[in-house]
Order: sequence, then C-alpha cells, then structure tokens
Amino acid sequence: MSLLIKNGEIVTVDSRYTADLFCEGETITRIGPRLDAPPGAEVIDAAGQYVFPGFIDPHVHIYLPFMGTFSKDTYETGSRAALVGGTTTLIEMCCPSRADDALASFELWLAQAAGKSACDFSFHMGVTKFDAKTEGQLLEIVKRGISSFKIFLAYKGAFGIDDTELYRALKLAKELGVIVTAHCENETLVAELQKELLAAGRTDPGQHHESRPPRVEAEGVHHLMTFAELTGAATYIVHLSCREALDEALAARRRGVRVAVETLIQYLVLDKTYAERPNFEGAKYVMSPPLRDKRNQEMLWNGLRDGLVQTVATDHAPFDFAKQKPMGKDDFTKIPNGIPSLEERINLLYTHGVKAGRIDLHTFVNVASTQVAKIFGLFPRKGTIQPGADADLVVFDPNYRGTISAKTQHMNVDYSAFEGWPIEGRPSVVTVRGEVAVRDGKFVGKMGRGQLLKREAIY
Ligand code: URP
Ligand code: ZN
Ligand code: ZN
Repeated sequence: MSLLIKNGEIVTVDSRYTADLFCEGETITRIGPRLDAPPGAEVIDAAGQYVFPGFIDPHVHIYLPFMGTFSKDTYETGSRAALVGGTTTLIEMCCPSRADDALASFELWLAQAAGKSACDFSFHMGVTKFDAKTEGQLLEIVKRGISSFKIFLAYKGAFGIDDTELYRALKLAKELGVIVTAHCENETLVAELQKELLAAGRTDPGQHHESRPPRVEAEGVHHLMTFAELTGAATYIVHLSCREALDEALAARRRGVRVAVETLIQYLVLDKTYAERPNFEGAKYVMSPPLRDKRNQEMLWNGLRDGLVQTVATDHAPFDFAKQKPMGKDDFTKIPNGIPSLEERINLLYTHGVKAGRIDLHTFVNVASTQVAKIFGLFPRKGTIQPGADADLVVFDPNYRGTISAKTQHMNVDYSAFEGWPIEGRPSVVTVRGEVAVRDGKFVGKMGRGQLLKREAIY
C-alpha cells in the first residue's frame, strides 16, 4: 500500500515549501520534487492546498460518567468527528470515580476505544485517589505506555483529590518520569460560592461563571505550582482560561517549575456572555473553568503566538441540550459541564487564528500538533512531516467556505455551540498512518483501525 500526495504546500513548525510526499505502508518515506508513483499507488493532487501534520487533541472526553450522566460520544462517533475535523490522534482523560481502582478503570476506558476507534488514541490516567493499592497499579499503567497522569483540584466528592494525595501523585510522577496534567480550580471556594448564589435564588446558567471567578482558577494554578516546585514533577495545566491563572503559571515557570499550559478553542472564540443567554440557552456554554470576559481572548492568542501557552485542545465533553443540560434547569450547579468541539477545533483555529491574522501557519501547526506530540512523548512519530514519521497528514483546502451546524456535524450531540458560524478552510483529505480516512471532507475511514499509542515516560 503506497500513497503519493503531489504538489501540496507542506507546512511544519519551521518550514513551508511545495513538494511531493510519498508514503509506504504507514510511514512517510520520501519528500521531494516530482516524485513518481509506483504502479498501484494512490495519488492525491494537493495543488493549491496545505499539507499539515495530523493534528492532535490532547484533552478529550469520549467515555465520561460525570454529574449523574454520561457524555454522548462513543469511539465510533468521536473518532469519526475528530478525523473529519483534521484530528488524527486524540488523548482521552481516563476518569475513574474515587470508588474505582485505577487499573480496572484503565481497562474499562481502553475497552471503549480498542477495536472501535478510527483514529489513533492514548490516555491520560486519572489519579482520583491515592491509596495503598494505587501506586502499584499506576506503575503497571505507565508500563503499558500511558506516560501522563490527570488530577483534578476541582469537583469535590467526585474526581477531586486532597493535598496528601496530590503530593503523593506528584512524587510518584517525578520518580517515574511522567507528566501530570491538572484541572486547576479551588474546589472549596467553588462549593462555597455555589451555595451562596443558590441561597440568593441565583440559579440560571449565567451564575456558573460567578461561582468560578478567575481568582478561583488562579488559586488552583498557584496551589499546583507550589506542589510541583516542592516535588520537581513536570506539570501541564489543562484548559487555562484567564490572565490571572496564566500569571501564576508564568511566575512559577520563572522560578524553574516545569509547567506547560493548554488553552481551549472555546476560550479563544467564546466569552461569558454566551453562558448568560436567556431561556436556558446559556446551558450550552457551561463548562469549567467557565467562559471568561472577552478581554482574556487577546491575551490567550498572544500567549500562543509568544510561546507562553503551548497547546490548544477542546476538552470535548458532549452532553445533549434537550435531555442532559436540563438536569440543571433550576440549579446551575447540576448542568453537566462541557462544550463539544472535537470536530471544530482546527477549522475554528484556522479561521479565527490564521485567517484573522492572530497567529501564523507555523504557530497553528505547533499548538495543535507538534507541541502536543513533544509534551506527551509522541514526537517525532507524530506531530511533524519528515521521513520516518507516521503518515498522518491533513490536506487542507484554504479556499473552502462553509457553515457550522449541528445538522451536519459528526459528533453525537444535539447542538453546536457554534451554530451558523462561517468557517474559512477545512481538511479535504486526512490520512491515518498512510490510509485515507477523509476524502472531500467526508469520512471514508475504517472503524477499529485506530491504535493505542504507547508513550515513553520522558521527564
Ligand atoms: O467542563 C468541563 N471541562 N467538562 C469536562 C470535565 C473537565 O473538567 O475536564
Ligand atoms: Zn477539567
Ligand atoms: Zn476535561
């Protein structure tokens, strides 16, 4: 099986040139001018289009038991949506409840994906308790190629861990050389503010961000940074949304704390006024940390451009508007948190980032692919275009014009947070390890072809 992509403009973090690209089996083997296709090779003409390395979403929820319900996607629907949107690898959060064992949970999450996913995948292993058994089980999970943990400083009573557990998890991570990804919000402050708002009769979705102001997130980051400094563990702050939180991360980085920062496409293009929409419409926009004041957007775009913020993810967490979001109709604290966007990340980042002149093409590739691969031990197999790398490629048509709608999306959820938004450009062809999975923007891939990516502990 071989594939020749001709005449495309190849864009990586540090190069941009027109060339042909030849893939044999699952791997890129040659890049150069006027390459010949051997008999039987599939040939794709990418003239007038970009060729990017496959994009990687480092923060996705597919299987997520959460707030009394389950997120809507399966690996069949989620991986199809990812690929149509140009994401060829996703890293899912494995989120056991505090009652569950880590190893059994890892196997449960893996079973949702193995033999079902059309794109490649890995997991961040949620450490939602740290008891006598946890250490040995985490060791086994890391041996199986899962080289990152996930911890929650929020969600009291569900996924949240206490400070002793946090300290032990970070010490173990340091010992094993794995990176710890963290949801940073002070859960006590959230719980108290929620109680006060509800007692004052403030129950609508627009109260969600009042219960989780920027300082609550900044305090979470500060807290994590203190523990990271004292243990020496490498850390990664997920879904950072505001200036106050970034300032804490940067202050820690200046002291030598090892910390990378992820923001989300939602924070770059949506603001808190969406969650304030009347008639419960705002529930579509409830996630944590919440959408922020618009002034944070410019700061986040600049952070990406200047390398202060490393990655753009989605924190894809799909809950239906008709049946699941209304669990919080009379109490905003019960609205399942999440804004689905796995399918839209790349198109929105290109339209609002590159086309709008906020970031250049190299930064676009860097924050949505290369940096993710580097931080999570996938580089250079993933995240770049070079001989020897996996042939995960996105042929991207910059002249395409379209409109986002729930009616045409592949994500298994009944609304789009971006309904009616125009997009400029989209992936026309997407390959996963040398096989075409998307053609003319349509999914043509194989369910079950996606592989679990084993990642080295590199810290
Ligand atoms: O609102 C969010 N972020 N939902 C998913 C769970 C999490 O916090 O990552
Ligand atoms: Zn989170
Ligand atoms: Zn998440």
